[in-house]
Amino acid sequence: MQRKLVGILGLAGILISFGAMSAKPVADDVPFPNGFRDWFAVNSMIVTKDSPIFGQIGGMHMIYVNAKGLPTLKKGGPLPYPDGTVFADDVHEFSVKDGSYVEGNKKAVTVMVKDAKKYSATGGWGFQVWAGGDVSKPLVPDAAHAVQACFTCHTPQKDQDYTFSTYIP
Ligand code: HEC
Repeated sequence: MQRKLVGILGLAGILISFGAMSAKPVADDVPFPNGFRDWFAVNSMIVTKDSPIFGQIGGMHMIYVNAKGLPTLKKGGPLPYPDGTVFADDVHEFSVKDGSYVEGNKKAVTVMVKDAKKYSATGGWGFQVWAGGDVSKPLVPDAAHAVQACFTCHTPQKDQDYTFSTYIP
């Protein structure tokens, strides 16, 4: 019986209750991307209710990359990205007013950090998501959960080092 892939919000509920059962905070060791709003803005995407992945990653996504990964992103290679590359996805709610999609509250901040050796089980990337972008609310307790919640959906992007984003001039 296939286990249903839980979305970021579904994941939030499930993992937060995991956290509540534990005495100490549960998280893998992926650090929060402090100051990421000052990084290079890569692209944006709005996942609406019409998308089959709305339940998992619905929202307004704004992707950032740090200086370490920027040259590789801009040139489109060589892949894989160098160790120390960090991608952050700033996920916001949105509303539609008179046909315009308007940014709302922060829903989550997700991260992929490259360390080929350390995260070899998940394509060399460490995955984490913080509910509401709150540094005290990481939702992925360990690498095993990262596989189910994140890596499975990024796996088809293997040819692009498991990332979706490309440089859009
Ligand atoms: C249902 C599929 C799906 C799941 C599940 C998913 N992602 Fe993604 N992710 C995407 C897509 C599609 C994009 C591209 C968004 C864009 O270009 O704006 C993306 C982009 C990203 C990016 C920006 C880098 C890139 O690949 O372009 C990060 C960081 C990221 N995801 C982290 C995560 C983390 C952490 C999790 C688990 C908590 C996760 N993702 C779960 C589909 C998914």
